[in-house]
Amino acid sequence: MTKSDDAALFGNRFLTKPAPAETFPEEGMAATDAMRLVDVDLAMEGDPQRNLATFVTTWMEPEAQRLIAENLHRNFIDHAEYPISAEIEQRCVRMLADLFHAPGKTAGCRTQGSSEAIMLGALSLKWKWRERRQAAGLSTDRPNLIFGGDVHVVWEKFCRYFDVEPRIVPLAEGKYTIGPQDVEPHLDENTIGVVAVLGTTFTGHKDDVVGIDELLRDVRKKRDLDIPIHVDGASGAFVWPFLYPDSKWDFRLEQVRSINVSGHKYGLVYPGIGWLIFRE
Ligand SMILES: Cc1ncc(COP(=O)(O)O)c(C=O)c1O
Repeated sequence: MTKSDDAALFGNRFLTKPAPAETFPEEGMAATDAMRLVDVDLAMEGDPQRNLATFVTTWMEPEAQRLIAENLHRNFIDHAEYPISAEIEQRCVRMLADLFHAPGKTAGCRTQGSSEAIMLGALSLKWKWRERRQAAGLSTDRPNLIFGGDVHVVWEKFCRYFDVEPRIVPLAEGKYTIGPQDVEPHLDENTIGVVAVLGTTFTGHKDDVVGIDELLRDVRKKRDLDIPIHVDGASGAFVWPFLYPDSKWDFRLEQVRSINVSGHKYGLVYPGIGWLIFRE
């Protein structure tokens, strides 16, 4: 049989010999074979629509599907080559900054999800702290970050990957969020920031962002330490502003300097997209 005869029979080739998985294959394979192989393998995975455990949504309007398909060939990360794509991203950033009450001109970016946005936001906390310390001629070798045990695992990963000491406020039965009284004992001159969660992964609660902001403003005044808050709004920042527009958790609070939100957790958006928005 020729290669194209082979391809004409559904699944034929890999019913009779193993699909390449370990070693680099001696020969190529027909596009149809490759397509069927991957198709059949993926069919054995769970059906995304029946899997609530991944926290992402599974349906998008046909118009969006069409746009995505029509632009798959675009290397949109190359902003110089594709300035309109970059501008569309920035329009979203500006609209989100407005939704989160940024006081003026802002910066931000699209990411693959909140995990990436958190890595970038937390790196910014670390670098800004380092800049402040270097400018004052102080040591920069022992940064720490304060968060509660209610955070998503990505925060612990950040600390491990980027050599930051995690100062984790433990949770207890009936206590699933953190507030200023939990944060205060952990603060010092090496604290790069405090994380507050809006919509925790486990219970959907909000940390006391207002209380933590108040504490940090007080620390700024009395101890001359400017410690920023990053709000992890992965699972809440597209719900809270609409349910409770008057409740402050965002840039209306002075110490909140950056916010992340997942685009793909709320409906009508495929994975993966997240956002990182800076106060200024
Ligand atoms: C509070 C919180 N932060 C971060 C993440 C990670 O988000 P993503 O899956 O968009 O990377 C999640 C996901 O469940 C989350 O709930």
